Amino acid sequence: MPVCSAWPAEPTMAPFTPLASGILLLLWLVAPSRACTCAPPHPQTAFCSSSLVIRAKFVGPPEVNQNTSHKRYEIKMTKMYKGFQALGDATDIRYVYTPAMESLCGYFHRSQNRSEEFLIAGKLRDGLLHINTCSFVAPWNGLSSSQRRGFTKTYSAGCGECTVFPCSSIPCKLESDTHCLWTDQLLQGSEKGFQSRHLACLPREPGMCTWQSLRSRTA
Ligand SMILES: *[C@@H]1O[C@H](CO)[C@@H](O)[C@H](O)[C@H]1NC(C)=O
Ligand SMILES: *[C@@H]1O[C@H](CO)[C@@H](O)[C@H](O)[C@H]1NC(C)=O
Repeated sequence: MPVCSAWPAEPTMAPFTPLASGILLLLWLVAPSRACTCAPPHPQTAFCSSSLVIRAKFVGPPEVNQNTSHKRYEIKMTKMYKGFQALGDATDIRYVYTPAMESLCGYFHRSQNRSEEFLIAGKLRDGLLHINTCSFVAPWNGLSSSQRRGFTKTYSAGCGECTVFPCSSIPCKLESDTHCLWTDQLLQGSEKGFQSRHLACLPREPGMCTWQSLRSRTA
């Protein structure tokens, strides 16, 4: 797989060569919303940076609270992968909170299917689960088997020590032995990329992390 540092790097290259502007346009097109743009994370990054990771069904329409400019979706949690300690005594998560407006990065749930399960990686604040447009929220059935394995078991092994390092502009290079260079966004457009779908950045030996395939691992 080509990496960014292997791309032609001309020190005198004008900032808007056809190649660079094509990539900028591509990034703009895949941005989830016009007013609130964010680069979707690698699922391992989503797992590691979230305090709560669960599987849940969205069981009702959103309710908007004008006082707080938030809306909440009622959910039914079916599995929990991260956050047991953060959750403490609270036994169940019944709602997921997000800004009411999409322009404030509010998450909008498009599926009407109340039996469909979603992986939700969010942040726990005052005992409430918060997400926004940039959060990793994806149909469980749409995840690759490697991603499911990652969320249920393997991604946690890379948290803390290893970093999925997005290559967001060319040229980019590895800055640390514990980084894995993530090129999906540039080369394939985010979540559907090979590194997202099949790889995790895991410790290989002390002080060194590498991309490792989750396809052959047993869950
Ligand atoms: C909003 O605030 C008003 C006034 O404090 C209160 O009566 C009302 O119950 C609040 N609404 C919600 C949905 O919290
Ligand atoms: C709803 O989701 C469930 C579980 O993913 C699936 O089996 C079912 O076919 C879906 N129903 C519709 C109408 O899409």
